[in-house]
Amino acid sequence: MTAYMALEAYMALEAYMTSLPMALQKELSPFGFEVRCTIVKIKYMVYNLLPEFVRMIDWDDFNIQERKKGDKHSSNYIYKSVTVRVCCTMMLFICSVLALIGAYCSVCWLYDNLRTPVSLIVHTLLQTILPKRKFGAKYGEWAVITGASDGIGKGYAEYLAQKRMDIVLIARNEQKLNRVANEISNKYSVRTKVLVADFSEGQTVYDHLAEELLPLDVGILVNNVGLSYERAMCVEELPRKTVWDLLNVNVASVTMLCHMLVPSMKQRGRGLIVNISSLSASAPAPYLTVYSATKVFVRNFSMALHEELRPHHVQVQTVLPGFVQTNMTAFVANEHKERQVAKHLVQVEDYVRYAGFTMGKTDRTCGYWTHGLQYAGLKLVPECIRILVMKTIYNSLRAPHGVQKVD
Ligand SMILES: NC(=O)c1ccc[n+]([C@@H]2O[C@H](COP(=O)([O-])OP(=O)(O)OC[C@H]3O[C@@H](n4cnc5c(N)ncnc54)[C@H](OP(=O)(O)O)[C@@H]3O)[C@@H](O)[C@H]2O)c1
Repeated sequence: MTAYMALEAYMALEAYMTSLPMALQKELSPFGFEVRCTIVKIKYMVYNLLPEFVRMIDWDDFNIQERKKGDKHSSNYIYKSVTVRVCCTMMLFICSVLALIGAYCSVCWLYDNLRTPVSLIVHTLLQTILPKRKFGAKYGEWAVITGASDGIGKGYAEYLAQKRMDIVLIARNEQKLNRVANEISNKYSVRTKVLVADFSEGQTVYDHLAEELLPLDVGILVNNVGLSYERAMCVEELPRKTVWDLLNVNVASVTMLCHMLVPSMKQRGRGLIVNISSLSASAPAPYLTVYSATKVFVRNFSMALHEELRPHHVQVQTVLPGFVQTNMTAFVANEHKERQVAKHLVQVEDYVRYAGFTMGKTDRTCGYWTHGLQYAGLKLVPECIRILVMKTIYNSLRAPHGVQKVD
């Protein structure tokens, strides 16, 4: 049946259905019957849009019921409903399913993105009621920070010294470390300890670190050390040594230090571990492939460890920073000098002020509010779009003709 023929049939049927009940009404009313006619008009356009199988559906419906005398509520009706019932039911069903999926996704997204602000508000309110406990008393005397001589790590070291914690600073460059340690101890009158370690050396560094750290009452561990690319590039363009360094510095250091310090924290029934992942862990990042994958490892490891240590009152916080102005992001600023990108990157002091405020209050944070919005925005779109966004960002940061591989 073509659309045109179906329409003709429909019009004819409608005319017939309109006149029949009117005639019946006249004929049957002396015998106490009431005839009613209900017509649900289907607009021509809508009708024409319907698929053929729907147009061929039996669309009229008669019901004749006998009216019991004197019963107002059960009159005898002759119904005529020219409706595309099945079609409506199907559309209703599809709409309900879509609405349910939409509601479910909205609830998941809201939960994912509002749990951090909500938990921050709740903790801040609780802190105004409950007596304030200093970080040292709550977690332990010492805070250990890896990659503490510069950037975000140095920021965390200062923040925690401000909270009157003694600080262990770990990095490669002894001179830089001593300078930062002196600055901190002079400014905040706390004890500092410098440990020189190069995490790219792999397994060998941990024996020395264990000797120095295990005797201390370590309350906070900030696994901050991280290595990225000098600029965005394809996997095969990375020197083999850099690939190993990325794995040793970004993955092994976090895993090994947690493995080393968790037993004593568990034993004391207190402690806080802060693992620095990255916003690039929220989607696979082409041209920063290995780096972003190591940060996914940190995120997953950290979130799983949080659940594992929850019964032992040891907290684990996962931090997912966006771009912060440090040595690591110098190439981003250089690449887009003309757009003055550096100006728009978050400053370390601002970043650490926000991220520090969330310590002990929430198990996952981006650290800074604009990064939180970026994370929420990324989570709003399907993964393929997120990958595309990452690809566009990092593709713009590649060398114009690729990078010469040096092994
Ligand atoms: N900056 C950002 O926009 C950004 C964004 C997302 C995530 N993150 C993450 O945040 C963390 C800190 O980044 P950042 O930007 O502050 O980095 P950064 O400015 O480059 O500082 C890195 C720190 O790690 C130390 N370090 C580097 N390689 C080391 C090694 N092999 N062994 C021991 N120490 C080493 C450095 O000191 P020495 O050179 O003296 O050893 C320095 O103290 C990283 O995990 C990074 O992935 C940063």
